[in-house]
Amino acid sequence: MMRTVKTVKEMAKIRGDLCKMNIIGLVPTMGALHEGHLSLIRKAKKDCNIVIASIFVNPLQFGPKEDFKKYPRDLEKDSEFLKLAGCDILFSPQSGDILGKDLGTSVHVEGLQSVMCGASRPGHFDGVCTIVLKLFNIVRPGNAYFGLKDYQQFVIIKKMTDDLDMPVNIIGCPIIRDRNGLALSSRNAYLSKDDYTKAVRINKALREGSRLAGLKKLKAGEITALLKKEYLKGMKTDYLGFYDADMLSLFDEKKKPSGKLVLAGAFFVGNTRLIDNIIIRI
Ligand code: PAF
Repeated sequence: MMRTVKTVKEMAKIRGDLCKMNIIGLVPTMGALHEGHLSLIRKAKKDCNIVIASIFVNPLQFGPKEDFKKYPRDLEKDSEFLKLAGCDILFSPQSGDILGKDLGTSVHVEGLQSVMCGASRPGHFDGVCTIVLKLFNIVRPGNAYFGLKDYQQFVIIKKMTDDLDMPVNIIGCPIIRDRNGLALSSRNAYLSKDDYTKAVRINKALREGSRLAGLKKLKAGEITALLKKEYLKGMKTDYLGFYDADMLSLFDEKKKPSGKLVLAGAFFVGNTRLIDNIIIRI
């Protein structure tokens, strides 16, 4: 019997349920894989029938003075890691193949980019969204997995897929840290010994910030000033603040906060830019 569907919501749900019969999970990456990426593969492996990982160092998301050229690349090693983690397909296109000769479209998600990394890396998230949308159209996954270290990226991609009714579930996965609490990142490979000693203070600062926020004795600005003074000496803070975890607006003490906040920051340790965050439930 034919079924008539009159709402977008219901149609999307039916299509989603049909997808679940043979779920393809996509883990988009730029390579230089570490345990953080592999945790996404393992999660995808649990949820899906087929796991596809993409490796593409996307030039669209790097600014002219950023590290596109020196970004670590080792396809052979990455491919071994992926095999061990149980990945079924590695998709590693050449730049000309995936971007084409005359790409004329850029995907811009409005409203979530005036703060955090969006403020200091203009155009970065347009580059991310454009490539992620292309990957989704090529691979057509039911689920796609992103690490929550790139918290703003996760929120923006989720908004893009919601706004465009894209039939893909965006799944955010916990930050994986080394034994000293440093969030794993491909860029950690740039850190000298001295840089590393400084970098491990980032997570300590965020945890202290979360604790102080819980005590409700200090204002957000006082907490971030204290963290910069006590924990983040010797590195340049690009940004550090408390943000609404859904809207990414800077937390305003005068307004009643919604469900959760994110304390997020970016820091230059030597020449290496590192990001990290912690979710604070209210
Ligand atoms: O998070 C990343 O590694 C990249 O931004 C992504 C999502 C693979 C897009 O190039």
